[in-house]
Amino acid sequence: MRTLVQAFHPKLRASRVCRPWADAALEAGCVVRDLYALYPDGRIDVPAEQAFAEAFDRLVFLHPLHWYAAPWLMKRWIDEVLQFGWAYGDRCALEGKVWLNVVSVGAVVEEYGPEGNRRYTVAEFLRPYERTAAFCGMQWEEPVKFYGAGVCDEDAVRASVAEVVRRMVGAA
Ligand SMILES: Cc1cc2nc3c(=O)[nH]c(=O)nc-3n(C[C@H](O)[C@H](O)[C@H](O)COP(=O)(O)O)c2cc1C
Repeated sequence: MRTLVQAFHPKLRASRVCRPWADAALEAGCVVRDLYALYPDGRIDVPAEQAFAEAFDRLVFLHPLHWYAAPWLMKRWIDEVLQFGWAYGDRCALEGKVWLNVVSVGAVVEEYGPEGNRRYTVAEFLRPYERTAAFCGMQWEEPVKFYGAGVCDEDAVRASVAEVVRRMVGAA
């Protein structure tokens, strides 16, 4: 199973959580792409992105949670790359492929859900992606969520890496 890791982090190289995950995914043999570095002006090369997406079995969307969603370039990627006639409609180029969000969440888990001050679970905030994957006939995998990314220490990040990479590559 070939895994494409699409990193949507405005400052991936400076990040404490997503960066070690991206580096470890690269070492594990995934193709890892830093979309903000590729498209600093936000002008996405749609045919190139479609060719990349078609060439892999597993599409991993690696991103921090920003305002209860992915950073804006991922929305733009979805809007522009998942075109009618390619992703859905006459053709479903991504049908059967895996969609996996791998998310660093700034706040601790207790803040999420009906008892928390954020009110909803992260899974609820990620539902637009779940439905987008389904619309394109893709297989949705339970998102990887790392809570407390804003307050955790380096040891917690290090300890997360092996499991995050295991989920990225879809190992049993
Ligand atoms: C613009 C912006 C919006 C954010 N919104 C949220 C949010 O809605 N919920 C949350 O828990 N953390 C939020 N955060 C914190 C980030 O999720 C956190 O900084 C990130 O996950 C840390 O991971 P990194 O080291 O890979 O950047 C936000 C941060 C920024 C910069």
